[in-house]
Amino acid sequence: MEQYEVLPPSPGKHNMDNYDEYCKNFTWESVEKEFSWYTTGKVNIAYEAIDRMVDEKGKGNDPAILYSDTEKEVTVTFADMKEQSAKFANVLTKLGIKKGDRVFLFIPRSPEMLISFAGIVKAGAIAGPLFEAFMEEAVKDRLVDSEAVAIVTTAGQKSRIKKDEIPSLKHVIVIGDEEANLAPYELSYEKLMAEASADFTPVWLTKDDPMFLLYTSGSTGKPKGVLHTHEIMTGIYHTMRISQDVQDGDVFWCTADPGWITGVSYSVWGPWLVGKATIIRGGRFSADDWYATLEKYGVTNWYSAPTAFRMLAAAGDDAVKKYNLKLRHITSVGEPLNPEVIMWAMKVFNVRIHETFFMTETGVNMICCYPCAPIRVGSMFKAIPGVEAAITDDDGNVLPPLQMGNLSLKKGWPGMMKEIWKNPEKYNEYFKNEPWYISGDQAYMDADGYIWFQGRNDDVIKTAGERVGPFEVESKLVEHPAVAEAGVIGKPDEVRGNIIKAFIALAPGYTWSDELDKELKQFVKLGLAAHAAPKEIEVRDKLPKTRSGKIMRRVLKAQEMGLPVGDLSTMDD
Ligand code: WT7
Repeated sequence: MEQYEVLPPSPGKHNMDNYDEYCKNFTWESVEKEFSWYTTGKVNIAYEAIDRMVDEKGKGNDPAILYSDTEKEVTVTFADMKEQSAKFANVLTKLGIKKGDRVFLFIPRSPEMLISFAGIVKAGAIAGPLFEAFMEEAVKDRLVDSEAVAIVTTAGQKSRIKKDEIPSLKHVIVIGDEEANLAPYELSYEKLMAEASADFTPVWLTKDDPMFLLYTSGSTGKPKGVLHTHEIMTGIYHTMRISQDVQDGDVFWCTADPGWITGVSYSVWGPWLVGKATIIRGGRFSADDWYATLEKYGVTNWYSAPTAFRMLAAAGDDAVKKYNLKLRHITSVGEPLNPEVIMWAMKVFNVRIHETFFMTETGVNMICCYPCAPIRVGSMFKAIPGVEAAITDDDGNVLPPLQMGNLSLKKGWPGMMKEIWKNPEKYNEYFKNEPWYISGDQAYMDADGYIWFQGRNDDVIKTAGERVGPFEVESKLVEHPAVAEAGVIGKPDEVRGNIIKAFIALAPGYTWSDELDKELKQFVKLGLAAHAAPKEIEVRDKLPKTRSGKIMRRVLKAQEMGLPVGDLSTMDD
């Protein structure tokens, strides 16, 4: 085994002070008891996270949203939030939207994004958060697949919604647009809200009723719709306490965008469920801006991602010295965290960065380093109390320590996806070795049960912590007339973890040029999203394929890395 550094537990008291003891005594019921539905039987996460903070916890005047960008600052209290989300729930109900209908959110990080999200859920509908930078096709694919009836968007983004290509779509609610610019099917958010009543009783549901639908990529096919239920609140609340260690008096900032699972669970709902404000910083990343944000709010618990930490480290140690920071607990998610970055954080903040591992499908943190336990730098430590992790072989047998295999989690925690939207086959692939949920990642456990992440075992690419399906990018590339075939891989990169590299074969009659290189990158950027666009394109006469015609990405990857290409018996000559 490799050499690793050990960091002693974080000083101070934590919500969990002894991992083994806590796991022994833990029951999910103890967490469920924190919610009013445990006694009333009436479930709605919007009630637990917002209305109850006003009605039962005396937090009406506390901030629920602390938004800022370089131009403005907005504070929304829990009382405002209760009222605004009620108004939006009334807006939707009046439009005929009912329990189970899909209503999408295509809005940059903003108070309106969160108000609409809460309103949709309060009305019993299913929210579909979309990353703000998605382009036409990415938006269309998701709305068509889920048969969305409505979308909430902004004046700046509405042109990317092709209503005539989305048959189910009835309403487009636009934030910040002039009345005169609205098409007949477009409605003004401001006008609807001004006319709406603030009186709305949350639509009461069961904990198994759907709450949001979030699309994520696999290695084949279009993005899949991961459906989560209101029960995710139990998992979020538990992990806000145990892995994020949020205590009374703490200030928590999760930097993730609400268009991804980390943002949904930990930027939006997590803080509210524990009675805290969600902090949203608009605008672009810069080291100074982020340090200033940490200082401004007195952030104590900070949840971010390796790419961000690497960029901050690259900005130099002096950048941080100007600020008076109160950090005491830092967590990281999305891709492996480099040991050097953890050691950098020890040096500049004197705080450990704790790995947290989870997926869109698992809903909430699954495997984490906790403040009460030593960190073996490079390991993710162990599953959260209430969840069992194992390394399994391809038949679902649990492997002994030090053997690499499938990182698996025992089915049955609150927050696990309920289904893949209208795709039971895809859902069943995760559970082909019941009771194990198969993550798609490779890992091993050491003799003490510490889990060491090794990488994906499919071709899914993690770039700047975001999940990109190679198939989507390949499909987009071959839509361009100059591209005959395309194979896409992740190429390791110091800051981004991976960049997207495309290998293409040109269609007859085309010759390679810098212009074409630019054009193809732009083509993917404008068709799908900037983060899905290749950073490098390499032209080949032809691409390695199986006899059945599948591009062999692993061969491309091995060649790129200068590694042996392995078994080529299925390759077409
Ligand atoms: C995949 C899931 C960004 C939000 C959560 C991810 C990778 C996640 C870690 C970690 C190494 C990690 C895995 C996983 N991943 N956390 N701590 N160390 N890899 O959600 O976008 O659905 O991606 O992210 O490969 O399967 P996601």
